Amino acid sequence: MTAPQPVDLAEAVIARMSDCADPRFREVMTSLVRHLHAFVREVDLRPEEWMAAIEFLTATGQACSERRQEFILLSDTLGVSMAVVGLDQARALRCDAGTARRATEATVQGPFYWEGAPDVPLGCDLRADGVAGEPACYSGEVTDTAGRPLPGALLDIWSGDGEGVYDMQVEGQGMTLRGRLRTDSDGRYRFWSIRPSEYPVPTDGPVGAMLKRMGRHPMRPGHIHLKVSADGHMPLTTHLFARGGRYLDSDAVFGVRDSLIVDFERHEPGIAPDGRHLAQPYYTVRYDFRLAPLRDPTGFR
Ligand code: BEZ
Ligand code: FE
Repeated sequence: MTAPQPVDLAEAVIARMSDCADPRFREVMTSLVRHLHAFVREVDLRPEEWMAAIEFLTATGQACSERRQEFILLSDTLGVSMAVVGLDQARALRCDAGTARRATEATVQGPFYWEGAPDVPLGCDLRADGVAGEPACYSGEVTDTAGRPLPGALLDIWSGDGEGVYDMQVEGQGMTLRGRLRTDSDGRYRFWSIRPSEYPVPTDGPVGAMLKRMGRHPMRPGHIHLKVSADGHMPLTTHLFARGGRYLDSDAVFGVRDSLIVDFERHEPGIAPDGRHLAQPYYTVRYDFRLAPLRDPTGFR
């Protein structure tokens, strides 16, 4: 009678995928299974710990709704979202270092993007009556990486209010501080919103409990989100961060990049450069977005 042979369960699972017709899916799942099994062995995972993990993931899914994306928050706070953004940038550099290096850097999308923001005219004020926050005028141009203006480029803009609260976090509230606008014939854009302030990522769900248990703070530095796109160019998802604010060096989602930190120039009440009358102090920000040419997705991985 021979002793039972130890079974390498990871390899047994992988062997069952021999009929998988999708090579990329098979590659990804093979690696995932190997790493998952290696992790279980490395930490000598106990049954009650694995059950706690399953309950955590279940609660993460249950916390998701039309207006809340707890899984994106999990990915962001574990640094995975930024790791994926970083790999995409490295891929672009391998493909065409010349232009990729000159393109505006990307960062996380986060859980508060809401598809279908209203189309608004250039120069529009995205602030609704009574929204908290100091007014700020954002302007600049959208160009390609050679500096040629991109007329008709689309900016899809969103942010929390001046206290860092997003419309999606307020029960029953419609879209606020969101809008989609297009650059003019010289590739220029301009809009009003608020000067963003630091705020915590949502802490009332399982991810918040995880951060607390990890001994981590939940804060993000003040920022405004933008998706910038134009025909024939790589779409960009990014932020502009307010220079001098707190948490720039300890963002809870690791999303800060130096090239995205901008000056908010303060002005006394009066007539703004676009002729708008401001009864309170306001800020101006200038930033030019540079989009890389569309990559051939089959050319490299
Ligand atoms: C945000 O900036 O909206 C955000 C990003 C990641 C996690 C939570 C919030
Ligand atoms: Fe945000």
